[in-house]
Amino acid sequence: MWLRLHPVCLRSQTRTVAGILLKVSRLRVNANVSRFSHSAGQTCKALLYRKHGDPSQVVQLEDVELRPLGVKDVRVKMLAAPINPSDINMIQGTYAILPDLPAVGGNEGVAQVVEVGHQVKSLKIGDWVIQRDPGLGTWRTEAVLAEDHVISLLNDIPLLSAATVGVNPCTALRMLSDFEDLQPGDSVIQNAANSGVGQAVIQIAAAKGINTINVVRDRPEFPHLSDRLKGIGATYVIKEEALRRPDIEDLFKTCPKPKLALNGVGGKSATELLRHLQTGGSMVTYGGMSKQPVTIPVSALIFKDVKVRGFWITQWKKDHSHDARAFRSMVDELCSLIRQGKLTAPACTEVGLQDYRKALDTAMQPFTSAKQILIM
Ligand SMILES: NC(=O)c1ccc[n+]([C@@H]2O[C@H](COP(=O)([O-])OP(=O)(O)OC[C@H]3O[C@@H](n4cnc5c(N)ncnc54)[C@H](OP(=O)(O)O)[C@@H]3O)[C@@H](O)[C@H]2O)c1
Repeated sequence: MWLRLHPVCLRSQTRTVAGILLKVSRLRVNANVSRFSHSAGQTCKALLYRKHGDPSQVVQLEDVELRPLGVKDVRVKMLAAPINPSDINMIQGTYAILPDLPAVGGNEGVAQVVEVGHQVKSLKIGDWVIQRDPGLGTWRTEAVLAEDHVISLLNDIPLLSAATVGVNPCTALRMLSDFEDLQPGDSVIQNAANSGVGQAVIQIAAAKGINTINVVRDRPEFPHLSDRLKGIGATYVIKEEALRRPDIEDLFKTCPKPKLALNGVGGKSATELLRHLQTGGSMVTYGGMSKQPVTIPVSALIFKDVKVRGFWITQWKKDHSHDARAFRSMVDELCSLIRQGKLTAPACTEVGLQDYRKALDTAMQPFTSAKQILIM
């Protein structure tokens, strides 16, 4: 993700982003030294990159050594791991945090514990676990991880939900909870509504009785996509172009103007979201898929006093790292929605680890509307 912010609008956010870069780069160095500094012992297969570049060119399936199991470590077998845009950007070398090289790709996924160190208290063999933090390299068949770098999940939820719950649904839940006091009947508008984050926003909002106005790019199969998103709880699904037409105001005769806009795209798309916000509402930027800067019309600031914010789940996790219950209770809330059938995994294509090149290429194509999930 290459996120540029319009210079006149977001001075405080730019400072925040710079702060994130400084703090997190220290974290990554530590994580990567431990992953590659041990010798001898067991190996596993992993998707490794030794330099930045085009993912399907620089990523290779290789044997890597597992570090010996420490007393507070667990050895896990990876079960499934998604390919997210941030994984691609890390390999390209354009993300806010970059691991030391060589690095194993992937930042989330679900694994099963197969061995525990003798001082491990919270985990046992057979448990499903997900990683707390990015940077552990999930595109691999096995890993040795510190007990406190993972949390367990009950294995009564679908595998694909478990593999994708730790980043996008967490982001969606936080953005719906932490910026505006949303009540049943309120509205949220979002772009990239068919993304993993977008699908989680739709479902979590629907579970809370909140309307969603979902903006997607036009495509030949728009009616099919619209039906699919409405099937998971979207109130309205509209094309980017429709958002610019005057008759969009008709929609607001039956649905309140949104208190919250969620921007994963940037550029004109973000500006259009802002135009429809309630006075005093918030636009939260969490992604920059168009690679275009966010421009805020002065009228939105002067006459509507909109709040322009940003969100990064990595920073939220870091800010809450002292409180082990914070991440746990968020994941528990999401798993409860999954069990109730109110939160499903995003539309996915399952791909064997050995077919990683195809999966990486597909993950970078526009209009695919399906997340690539590596199955180990
Ligand atoms: N800040 C955070 O904490 C946080 C957490 C999770 C994710 N993210 C970010 O959120 C974004 C979405 O992640 P995800 O995993 O949900 O993505 P995803 O499931 O892979 O979906 C990608 C989305 O981006 C859209 N898109 C791709 N290229 C675009 C372009 N040039 N212009 C407009 N839209 C474009 C796609 O729309 P089409 O179908 O039209 O191609 C699709 O809706 C990424 O930028 C990711 O890094 C941020």
